[in-house]
Amino acid sequence: TVKMVSKQEQQEMVNIAHRGASGHAPENTMGAFQKGVEMKADYIEIDVQMTKDGELVVIHDTTVDRTTNGTGKVGDLTLKEIRQLDAGSWFSEAFTGESVPTFEEVLAEFQGKVGILVELKAPELYTGVEEKVADALIEKNMSAPNNNKIIIQSFNHESIKKSKELLPNLSHGVLTGGSWANVTEEQLAQFASYADYFNPTMKIVTDELVSNVHEAGMDIYPYTSRSQEQALRLFDLNVDGIITDYPEHVYSHPVKN
Ligand code: G3P
Ligand code: CA
Repeated sequence: TVKMVSKQEQQEMVNIAHRGASGHAPENTMGAFQKGVEMKADYIEIDVQMTKDGELVVIHDTTVDRTTNGTGKVGDLTLKEIRQLDAGSWFSEAFTGESVPTFEEVLAEFQGKVGILVELKAPELYTGVEEKVADALIEKNMSAPNNNKIIIQSFNHESIKKSKELLPNLSHGVLTGGSWANVTEEQLAQFASYADYFNPTMKIVTDELVSNVHEAGMDIYPYTSRSQEQALRLFDLNVDGIITDYPEHVYSHPVKN
């Protein structure tokens, strides 16, 4: 007899918990990252920025206003000031007391436990952020050849070029928004000269885009799936991984018959 398996079970799919399992816990907190690991994500995605005093912190917006009880720009606050903020209670009372993690802290806690998809967020605001990220990874021995558990990505493609020079053995990705719907094969070849991943908004993903990205030698991890339906559409389009707020929508380990 042939066991009927769902589409999801048949296909190998890399499961990336966006800002951690941010559908279930406050984004970019240790709680959200822990939850992503519990839910068997292959990677946690984190947004890295820099404080006024040059420390790397993990937060999405360029201000602390939306996701903490403070106000102001990340780059205008010291690490000490940022660490005093509550980054959990905006999401729910159960997470009161979560703080904005440092990059170091995330590496120390999750090295070897889950892959880390590191987004350099708004690197144009933070001179030297690529070097600081590279130094932190080198110091923790996470820059070794073929280390496929760390990927560095950004919407700022110049920043990714710079990072690739600093960390030639690590995988890099270019993030793209809606304006890249008609990306040409030439542009993809250009990206492929320094990047291993082309990670677009899921809105622009078509069969043709997926095959062109593969043709150029890159993998494609679209963002951000927030429903089962959206995840299934991406499965159908044969992407390589799905960046999602809900890791339960994506099964990373297929049932083999
Ligand atoms: O990983 C891709 C995704 O995180 C990019 O968008 O705004 O959530 O950082 P954003
Ligand atoms: Ca991100």
